[in-house]
Amino acid sequence: MGRPNPEVYALLDFEHYRQVYKNTLDEMFSHNQKDINEHLCTYGPSQGVINGHVSRWLSIDENIHAAENDIFITNGCQEAYNLILLHELREESDCVLIIEPTYFGFNDCVSVLGKSSVTVSVNDVSDEAGAFQFENLTALIAEFKSQGKNTRLLYINPDFNNPMTYRLSESEKATLLAVCHQNGVKIIEDSTYSGFYFDGERGHSIKSQDPHGLVYYVGSFSKVMCPSLRLGYLILNQSDAATRADILHIKDHTSLSTSALNQQIVAGFLIHYGYSVEAWVRPIREEYQRRRNAMVEVLQSELDGSPIKWQPPQGGFFVFLKLPFSITSKDLIHCVENYQVTFMPVSYFSRREGKVINGIRLAFSYYEPEIIEQGTREFCKFLKERFL
Ligand SMILES: Cc1ncc(COP(=O)(O)O)c(C=O)c1O
Repeated sequence: MGRPNPEVYALLDFEHYRQVYKNTLDEMFSHNQKDINEHLCTYGPSQGVINGHVSRWLSIDENIHAAENDIFITNGCQEAYNLILLHELREESDCVLIIEPTYFGFNDCVSVLGKSSVTVSVNDVSDEAGAFQFENLTALIAEFKSQGKNTRLLYINPDFNNPMTYRLSESEKATLLAVCHQNGVKIIEDSTYSGFYFDGERGHSIKSQDPHGLVYYVGSFSKVMCPSLRLGYLILNQSDAATRADILHIKDHTSLSTSALNQQIVAGFLIHYGYSVEAWVRPIREEYQRRRNAMVEVLQSELDGSPIKWQPPQGGFFVFLKLPFSITSKDLIHCVENYQVTFMPVSYFSRREGKVINGIRLAFSYYEPEIIEQGTREFCKFLKERFL
């Protein structure tokens, strides 16, 4: 399962974070309980109530310097996608470019909103060795244009991609930015897994390298803290009053606002950690790394010499296996029923029937290393008995 490690939940001290935030409110409102209650309990400003805290944290931990006015506190990444798509895609010809396979939360959002997309395969923009060739996008965008499709946006989850696990190098990010600039395409950068790197350091986001004001930056507290908060954030591509007003208008008329009660928990958490949550994330990341290692060691010993191709991921929650055969829902059910292991066929992350990549996404985030090891052995047994 691609869910966060549930052991983290027990470590979250919600009451304490609320108290920490309440202490700052006591100061801010000179202990006036009526004003404090108003701040916590009424319909809050649509844009959010903890934007200043998030701004401070992002500048320390992610080297992103956004004014609080350019940040929206959202109901998860999911709402951030909604806001951007509704704001940017106005005409029938306006499209978002999706590099498939792609996180289905984004794909589904595009469909549900009835917005148009153009899709390319990850194979169209990378070479045999997996290095990205974003230069190829220029010709593809021109081809879409000749079909009456105007590519206005591109969605990418560049660090420890779900489901492909790739991490764009600094130069690949720079090329993507340059190509998008050249073609008048804005970028939605989904940073959900960027803090969960196992080797080296956190890389630079595309956003932090963007001189053109192209990048909408979308992030989530679902993995750093827990998904039930339903809290994420959107940083505008540029500090622009008209964009801000329009997105505010959309949020006002869709979700109205994001729970102020949940926002106070997150603000208290950020204050508690002095606006750098590195001390909190480090042990969580190290545990994910142990789980990754447990899975990788079994795959190495069991699949060595097989035609299945894969790379140990450098971060995130998943391993991607490239298969020389297709895999169906029937195979998945067979594996669940007979080996008690579940996985995601990568075809579930594509909308282009017939042009999907044959592959499997395995998740190591949820279970402890011993179970991961056992499950991976069973999974390899399934592959061998059914396909190899
Ligand atoms: C790439 C990616 N973005 C976003 C999310 C979810 O974000 P949120 O819970 O903030 O909507 C996920 C969850 O699996 C994900 O894989």
